[in-house]
Amino acid sequence: MYLKEIMDEAKKYVGKEVSVSGWVRNHRRQKELGFIVFSDGTQFNQLQLIYDNQLSCFEELAALKIGTAIEVRGILQESAGSGQDYELAIQDFKLLGDCPDDYPLQPKPHSPEFLRSIAYLRPRSNLFQAVFRIRSLAAMAIHTYFQDRGYVYLHAPLITASDCEGAGEMFQVTTLPLEQLNGKVDYTKDFFHKKTGLTVSGQLQAETFAMAFSKVYTFGPTFRAEDSNTKTHVAEFWMIEPEIAFCDLDGVMDIEEDMLKFIVQYILEKAHDELVFLDKFAEKGLLQKLEKLVSSTFTRITHEEVISILKKADVRWEFEPKYGEDIAKEHEKYITEYFDGPVFITNWPKEIKSFYMKQNEDGTVRGVDLEVPGIGELIGGSEREADYEKLRTRMEELKMDISEMEWYLNLRKYGSCVHSGFGLGFERLLLYLTGVDNIRDVIAYPRTPGNCEF
Ligand code: 4AD
Ligand code: MG
Repeated sequence: MYLKEIMDEAKKYVGKEVSVSGWVRNHRRQKELGFIVFSDGTQFNQLQLIYDNQLSCFEELAALKIGTAIEVRGILQESAGSGQDYELAIQDFKLLGDCPDDYPLQPKPHSPEFLRSIAYLRPRSNLFQAVFRIRSLAAMAIHTYFQDRGYVYLHAPLITASDCEGAGEMFQVTTLPLEQLNGKVDYTKDFFHKKTGLTVSGQLQAETFAMAFSKVYTFGPTFRAEDSNTKTHVAEFWMIEPEIAFCDLDGVMDIEEDMLKFIVQYILEKAHDELVFLDKFAEKGLLQKLEKLVSSTFTRITHEEVISILKKADVRWEFEPKYGEDIAKEHEKYITEYFDGPVFITNWPKEIKSFYMKQNEDGTVRGVDLEVPGIGELIGGSEREADYEKLRTRMEELKMDISEMEWYLNLRKYGSCVHSGFGLGFERLLLYLTGVDNIRDVIAYPRTPGNCEF
């Protein structure tokens, strides 16, 4: 059986014989007794196995090393010791896979940096047991949220010719013989007969489906060749991109807020043991932070108002806040602490935002970033420019290759309507949900500049 099946109905199994396979996580030996901390990973909490020298296999049990895979048969009993409600009194065991003393994951505190260096073993650590169970649950929460509300799940293409964000951060996809090109590139000879790359966002394709299904969302990998070595950037990350027809900027903020509260509530209900652990070892006050979010109202404020608050602040900034300019990490931090919770910042200067955002009369666009304490930007979204001429003019101003984007412009020609959407960075969401400090520790095998291991 699996540990979770037994422990979910522990009362029923008390006094009964059960058999379970898993790994030795810790092992404490006394002269006549031994205690093994055992886990098969099907639940966060481990099980204590006990044995004594009355067993014929006592010596073999006592020799078991950390990391060894075993199958044990024993009687489940209520535990007299503190720290656990139940334990398993071993009757017999089978050695499945021995583990030598050089096993790197010995039961002692390990730094995240060390765990990253043994990334193929770190799923066995308590931290990863908690984080990756929450990652799985959060994905389910997101699908549940959108599916229950009638959204259609769209798989946007991963290879594309359109750079949605126009930031020039696309990884190129090519089959051209790079070594033999001598600097001369003829893209008509490339696999797709044109220049292509890995998608930075599924938004543009999601918009085409929103114009047919009204409510859609993507949930898939996105790629950015962004040379930033920070705790919140990876080159391959997962994004959730809902796109909603007949929805304006206020409407999309309502959805973001409702969705985030739903996800947090879902995790609070389904990952209590994991959150208690993370509250202790990753972020003190994590549970309280999440509980507070569910009942709070997010602040909504314009970019201009943000700059005014920053300018009035009694802080020596590294980067002076300026009207019409982007805000820095230190500003995001100040604003989320100032309002003590998530903050929607709207009406950004158009120069620093993407081409597709709905233009206001005053040189701003109807874009919205959701900033959250501890992380900064968690969600980027906007109302989309629905007017053909305005969008075309903006694309021309930005010297975009319009011939490649005719299909996108045509959405504004054939039954255009007000529509909005956003992109939630899944790994950033996980940083918020788990209290983990570095994005490299909430994705299985992080891809960052200079690093593509495993
Ligand atoms: O703000 P971004 O660039 O917005 C878009 O891509 C829009 N097309 C989304 C939309 O409206 N459909 O990215 C959205 C989110 C960010 O807020 C952030 O959470 C995450 O994606 N993100 C990253 N996460 C990890 N590593 C990176 N390098 C990221 N870049 C963006
Ligand atoms: Mg953004």
